[in-house]
Amino acid sequence: MDEKVIIEERQGEAVMMEGNVPNGRKLYLESYGCAMNFSDSEIVASILQKEGFTTTRNVEEADVVMLNTCSIREKAEATVRKRLQLFKKQKKVNPNLVVGILGCMAERMKETLLEEEKLVDVVVGPDAYRDLPSLIAQVDSGQKAVNVLLSRDETYADISPVKLGGNGVTAFISITRGCDNMCSFCVVPFTRGRERSRNPLSIVAEARQLFEEGYREVTLLGQNVDSYRWNVSKKGEIVDENIPTTNFAELMEMVAKVNPKLRVRFSTSHPKDMTDDVLHMMAKYDNICKYIHLPVQSGNTEILKKMNRGYTREWYDNRISAIRRIMPDCAISTDIITGFCTETEEQHQDTIDLVKQVRYDYAYMFFYSERPKTLAERKYEDDIPLEVKKRRLAEVIKVQNENSLFRLSHFVGQTQEILIEGPSRKFPDSQLCGRNTQNAMVIIDKGELTKGTYVNVLIESCTGATLFGKVVD
Ligand code: SAH
Ligand code: SF4
Ligand code: F3S
Repeated sequence: MDEKVIIEERQGEAVMMEGNVPNGRKLYLESYGCAMNFSDSEIVASILQKEGFTTTRNVEEADVVMLNTCSIREKAEATVRKRLQLFKKQKKVNPNLVVGILGCMAERMKETLLEEEKLVDVVVGPDAYRDLPSLIAQVDSGQKAVNVLLSRDETYADISPVKLGGNGVTAFISITRGCDNMCSFCVVPFTRGRERSRNPLSIVAEARQLFEEGYREVTLLGQNVDSYRWNVSKKGEIVDENIPTTNFAELMEMVAKVNPKLRVRFSTSHPKDMTDDVLHMMAKYDNICKYIHLPVQSGNTEILKKMNRGYTREWYDNRISAIRRIMPDCAISTDIITGFCTETEEQHQDTIDLVKQVRYDYAYMFFYSERPKTLAERKYEDDIPLEVKKRRLAEVIKVQNENSLFRLSHFVGQTQEILIEGPSRKFPDSQLCGRNTQNAMVIIDKGELTKGTYVNVLIESCTGATLFGKVVD
């Protein structure tokens, strides 16, 4: 899932929605982890706004603080723990402050943070957000509150998310929740529960609504978007004969048809499930962006088997060839884990070779972090020393940095259509930033341009991460 699993912090502020009666209390929401968590925070904000909460970006004026957390690696959890210690201090100054933990860490730790460590008042798992108002009420009445029940059908399909601190141009739409894959290193199936797909009509309605509000790009989110299915049971049977079935390629087309000026992206594709149908559908629509995030994790078949990824190196190579054949201009990114249990130097070299061979546009790279209860934790010894994991990671990063520069330098001299997202991070007063279809970031001079518009840009130079150019229309 994109932008992704890099631990970043974003705080939101949103205005009251019409019809809500303010209750005088302010909510401060902080999100960590993947795009799914950021998207969930918008659902949480929506649920609590209906109860009369307003949101604030200033933690000091908050009555309720909620951390939406990630468990993917040990470091992600350590970051949240530090934040919780800080809020514990703040509670001493303001004893009425309610501190809550949401998301994957809430699900994984359940009562521990509440009972043993006394760090929080309320613990809410990813499928229990509708229960937040009553859980907060429970805390108000002097009790601690927990709901970490996972659901087989909750998709929050009817809840219209409140956009938090975004750019007003690009938005996430969740299309599936949970994951059934059980990759041996991964905690997600335990924290997010079983995979379920959301009603396609509610997805299209949300995309349409966003377009009307001025948004020009949506990213369809799921841990494995290719396994999206509607009206088909897990056994492959049609559930209701009276309504059509929808697979991921069809869903993508439905969203692409909302408006040709609405760009469609998606994340994450799973190599074992990504079909040529999906690739042909991408090729058919100009507004489906030519960018695929296709996590490989390792370049060695034996390690892939131990990771329980469900594909071999050859299968993955074949998927890359299919992308290149059907969409020669498509950008590809990946996720890589170094130093997984039993990984030899030769097997690590296979990953390096793969990264050299594919020449990814971008990669998210991590060293293996053992997670409690996962298959790998139960089955294999975490036997690669930390310094070896880190050295291998540095080696992969080095190769990938060369790839990124190679890919971006290809755009120099070309004219690219970009969707302007807003002010650039470095020079917000004089420059704007946007992306081309391949998801490369482009910086241009501000001039009279406004965000949410498409412009053609002649690319003049690049670094390993960014393109620079001038508008030519
Ligand atoms: N559903 C996505 C991945 C979600 S987690 C997929 O299947 O591709 C995002 C990334 O975090 C993974 O692709 C993996 O590279 C990394 N990751 C997950 N568990 C990890 C662990 N225990 N240690 C290190 N990296 C991990
Ligand atoms: Fe984790 Fe694998 Fe599911 Fe991705 S597909 S969320 S890595 S179990
Ligand atoms: Fe996402 Fe982290 Fe959970 S990556 S699904 S928030 S463990």
